[in-house]
Amino acid sequence: MAAINGITLGGGLETALCCNYRIASNTAFVGLPEVNLGLLPGGGGTQRLPRLVGPSEALKMMLTGTHVPAKKALDMGIVDLLSENVVEDSIAFAKEKAAEDIKHPMVRDINEKIIEARGSENVLVEAQALAAKSRKGQFAPGQIIKCVEAAINLDDFDEGIKKEGELFIECLLHPQREAMIHIFFGERSASKISDMPKDTPVMDIKKAGIIGSGTMGGGIAMCFANAGIPVHIIDQDADNLKRGLSVIEKNYDFMVGRGRMTPEQKDMVFGLITSSLDYKDLHDVDIAIEAVYENLDLKLEIFKSLDEHVQDNAILASNTSGLDVDAIASVTKRPNKVVGTHFFSPANIMRLLEVVRGEQTSHETLATVMNISKRIKKAAVVSLNAPGFIGNRMLFNYTAQANMLLLEGALPHQIDQAIESFGLNMGPFRMMDLVGLDLGWRARKLSGAESPLHAKIGDHLCDNDRFGQKNGKGYYNYSEGSRAPNPAPENEAIYEKISSENGFTRREISDEEITDRCILALINEGADILSEGVAQRAADIDVVYINGYGFPIWRGGPMHHANAMGLDVVVEKLKKYHEITGNNAYKPSELLIKLAKNGEKFSEAPLEEERKEKLNFAMSSVAGNF
Ligand SMILES: NC(=O)c1ccc[n+]([C@@H]2O[C@H](COP(=O)([O-])OP(=O)(O)OC[C@H]3O[C@@H](n4cnc5c(N)ncnc54)[C@H](O)[C@@H]3O)[C@@H](O)[C@H]2O)c1
Repeated sequence: MAAINGITLGGGLETALCCNYRIASNTAFVGLPEVNLGLLPGGGGTQRLPRLVGPSEALKMMLTGTHVPAKKALDMGIVDLLSENVVEDSIAFAKEKAAEDIKHPMVRDINEKIIEARGSENVLVEAQALAAKSRKGQFAPGQIIKCVEAAINLDDFDEGIKKEGELFIECLLHPQREAMIHIFFGERSASKISDMPKDTPVMDIKKAGIIGSGTMGGGIAMCFANAGIPVHIIDQDADNLKRGLSVIEKNYDFMVGRGRMTPEQKDMVFGLITSSLDYKDLHDVDIAIEAVYENLDLKLEIFKSLDEHVQDNAILASNTSGLDVDAIASVTKRPNKVVGTHFFSPANIMRLLEVVRGEQTSHETLATVMNISKRIKKAAVVSLNAPGFIGNRMLFNYTAQANMLLLEGALPHQIDQAIESFGLNMGPFRMMDLVGLDLGWRARKLSGAESPLHAKIGDHLCDNDRFGQKNGKGYYNYSEGSRAPNPAPENEAIYEKISSENGFTRREISDEEITDRCILALINEGADILSEGVAQRAADIDVVYINGYGFPIWRGGPMHHANAMGLDVVVEKLKKYHEITGNNAYKPSELLIKLAKNGEKFSEAPLEEERKEKLNFAMSSVAGNF
């Protein structure tokens, strides 16, 4: 008899499935999320869960790794009873059952649902489609499907368990498992700030304020409301505010339409969002997050005003993508309370939050923002206040090298295909078309300086009115209302012209060179970011790149990928491309050279205690299986 109280995941649920009966508290959650670590539920989960809930539901649960709330677990048949006093009720229930002269049910003997699925391919085909869509490139989902296939087709439960064991070992030995566990721990260690005392106090955030109801302000407001935190939005423009609120409401209606939230839940969260046009209405917030246009003078004005109107102990944060947080802090009387909170778009969906630590940001401010980021379900990483912070600085180098490849002879669709085959969600040219080529073009024009080589083709496209998706033509062409990229053969004459004007003889470039050069550019910049102390640890950089830039989680992020390649190989390749191209982006970072020379890797576990934690975890996951 299993009494389930709280969060019962993985081995916990697998143990419960070995029992005759399961009683759960009303607040419990159950799930088999091993797939998130590149593993499969290897303690019999793949054989028992399909017997209880049917192969189709079991596959959905195991492939998504969802945490199922107690009430739903009862409806699905995973638990037999819900209870408010789970221990007392379980004891009473066990006594009652023990007194009955019956054969108590064992999940291994419940075969109706798996026999029903025999002979039909539908369940497995649907599962394969789900895995291909939501877990592209991952190894473990295919193994989970094979386990369930065995559960369906093998008559003997013990044979199924044997098969599960074999497939589990393959996952355990697979490099993806190490990469995904690296990110699992990376996200947890990112909130530990190396110079911050453990007893740093954390402020209680009871209410948030947002300034600017545009794309980002609206998304950020939703994050707070979704976490049950009241939030007040102000804007300077009544029409913009109205539009912003209607976008938020539409987003919630969309979620209701998709069954992700009930109408009552929508009313509750939407009801937590209030709005006005007056800064005075922010007087009682504990954190105010500014999300207005990216203009330093405007932000300085706003921070002066916030300093005046918001209670003295509140945190003032800016969602700036790259302005100087110290300059912003300097106009306030509380620079220790000023911090950058760089959310990614769409802010209600993207998990990454770069927390930008200014010169004077206090430990308390930083600890509070890291703490609140957990409540609003973000993967937060601390960056020093340096140009481009962590992610955009790496992105800049990567897109610059993709553009150099275009100048040297590769075409956008070839580069995108190579990078997408490596595992990124979207190749660099599709991404640039999505963001808009005109942003950089306008900034370069304003600066008056000559464009760098890598920007020449993009500038020429903009001169020809090709801004990207926003006007239906950029590196690709787009049909009305569609985001699907179509080839743009008319651009090829432009590529040839700009290449030859800049002294390049266009050449065939292999997919291997494309992938190497784009990914090495990320790694090399990442190494500099690390050695300058802009990021605290290599794993932080990986967390940024996976959660904000579509790097495949199963490769563990660019720095983990470098470790997996071997840093000596990374340095050799960088040297080779530096020699071929003469491009300093490939001049190996000093840190890389030093680590490679000593046969070392980017450190996986900067803190001794994390190293221990990781070892214990690895041991328990192996022990659980045998
Ligand atoms: N859009 C993105 O993808 C993205 C991603 C990360 C960070 N950012 C950053 O977030 C910030 C906001 O960007 P956005 O795309 O949401 O802008 P936006 O243009 O969508 O919205 C800006 C809003 O600010 C309001 N505003 C302007 N001046 C104001 C003032 N004085 N007081 C109150 N409200 C005022 C405007 O009326 C408008 O509603 C910028 O700093 C941007 O760099 C944007």
